[in-house]
Amino acid sequence: MTKTKAFAPAKINLCLHVTGQRADGYHLLDSLVAFAEVGDHLTLTRSEVMQLQVTGPMAQGVPTDGRNLCWKAAKAFGQPAAITLDKHLPAAAGIGGGSSDAAAVLRGMSDLYGTPFGGEALTLGADVPVCMAARAARMEGIGEVLTPLALPRLPAVLVNPRVEVSTPDVFRALASKTNPALEPLPADGADVIAWLRDQRNDLQPPAVALQPVIGDVLQALSACEGTFLARMSGSGATCFAIMASDEAAARAATALGQKHPNWWIAATALS
Ligand code: C5P
Repeated sequence: MTKTKAFAPAKINLCLHVTGQRADGYHLLDSLVAFAEVGDHLTLTRSEVMQLQVTGPMAQGVPTDGRNLCWKAAKAFGQPAAITLDKHLPAAAGIGGGSSDAAAVLRGMSDLYGTPFGGEALTLGADVPVCMAARAARMEGIGEVLTPLALPRLPAVLVNPRVEVSTPDVFRALASKTNPALEPLPADGADVIAWLRDQRNDLQPPAVALQPVIGDVLQALSACEGTFLARMSGSGATCFAIMASDEAAARAATALGQKHPNWWIAATALS
């Protein structure tokens, strides 16, 4: 194969409990991760030299050299490629933009060269392993312990107020690093949303303290007609709302966009 396409969906932490800290400073997590229908689109072509071009509505400020996680992923795979990254997700936003892109590069390179990735996805970032399968999973450890899980399709709205939050700063600002793990996962057919309401994102309070506009986003999402649950993803600043229907998600996205033209907003679904 000389050319292939790969999709890098937004990663959403439906809940995220910080349960401890390792000696090396990384935090132990217990998180239920889902993937959205919105994401970045990559094209990979066999090439003698590494090339990276970034296009799309969110391309501004994204590095096109060795600092980009796509480039690092190709390097870790051990082969060059010409990569076009059509960027639709905001960067440094808690929805795994860079991690999902890196995972998509590894999947695409496997297609191109007909060999699986033999390295450790975790070395590219804690969220890269879960993004490799891009399927809902419980994520434990620092991101390497994965248990796949079937989720119903959940209509949703994603909102990013266009502020960047530093992940290390949010972890540092945590009041407690030893919080309870997730409650036993809901059985097949059980009410996932009711279960999710009883879980948390432990990174949400420190992120809101660092960037109060995240609190405004959560309030705006909660106030929409048809919102079942509103919460922040990862270390922020992107928040999601699970909605009663695709129509409710589309209506909420339109209404929020009219009121907050500077926010990044996407009506989508999670699964
Ligand atoms: O692995 P990744 O590059 O995504 O992580 C960014 C930063 O977030 C790390 O350098 C670390 O400070 C923090 N982090 C953490 N515990 C995790 C994941 C990330 O402390 N499980």
